[in-house]
Amino acid sequence: MKIKSADFIISNTDVYKCPTERIPEYAFIGRSNVGKSSLINMLMERKDLAKISGTPGKTQLINHFKINDSWFLVDLPGYGYAKVSKKMRAGFQKFIEDYFIQREQLVCTFVLVDSRHDPQKIDLDFMRFLGEKGIPFCIVFTKADKLGSSKLNKQIVSYKKKLLATWETAPMSFLTSSSTGLGRKEFLDFIDGVNAD
Ligand code: GTP
Ligand code: MG
Repeated sequence: MKIKSADFIISNTDVYKCPTERIPEYAFIGRSNVGKSSLINMLMERKDLAKISGTPGKTQLINHFKINDSWFLVDLPGYGYAKVSKKMRAGFQKFIEDYFIQREQLVCTFVLVDSRHDPQKIDLDFMRFLGEKGIPFCIVFTKADKLGSSKLNKQIVSYKKKLLATWETAPMSFLTSSSTGLGRKEFLDFIDGVNAD
């Protein structure tokens, strides 16, 4: 897929104020600082379409971007950030939960996890939540540039093995780096394929 346009549309905390247009929508979720906003910029080949920061908790709102005038990309706040209240850490922010429950346009969710880490409880809890709600999701391994290739491969294989303790089949996954552009083509081809269905 060629990116011809990528436009910021609206930010908010209320799912009912999200754009009403019935076009396919893809959401990016994961722990704070995992690289959601960076991945969106990498995919769109734009430096600062989505706001990035080394400090966790940068993205605080539901951010809609319209791509090629035909689908939405959604940058969401991270979960699992220690500075938010205990209550928020225990679950997920209510408006994020509402977004996933209410948003009928949502065709696929990308759950981002850091390539260097073993499965974290909060990510598994979130995947379980999506599974229970019947929301399709893929796993996206981020920051692949931070590990050497043999360590990286071992880590991914071990991550998927551990997932199989919970799921019969591991969800589809992508290996990405926003620094090197790794995974960009596969990612966009996947979205193209889903949009064409
Ligand atoms: P929140 O909005 O706070 O939830 O964070 P986020 O998931 O949107 O992460 P963001 O894209 O803001 O990136 C967090 C930090 O990780 C920034 O310092 C990025 O430069 C860095 N980063 C993101 N992706 C990559 C990557 O692929 N490789 C490397 N080396 N650094 C990355
Ligand atoms: Mg962000």
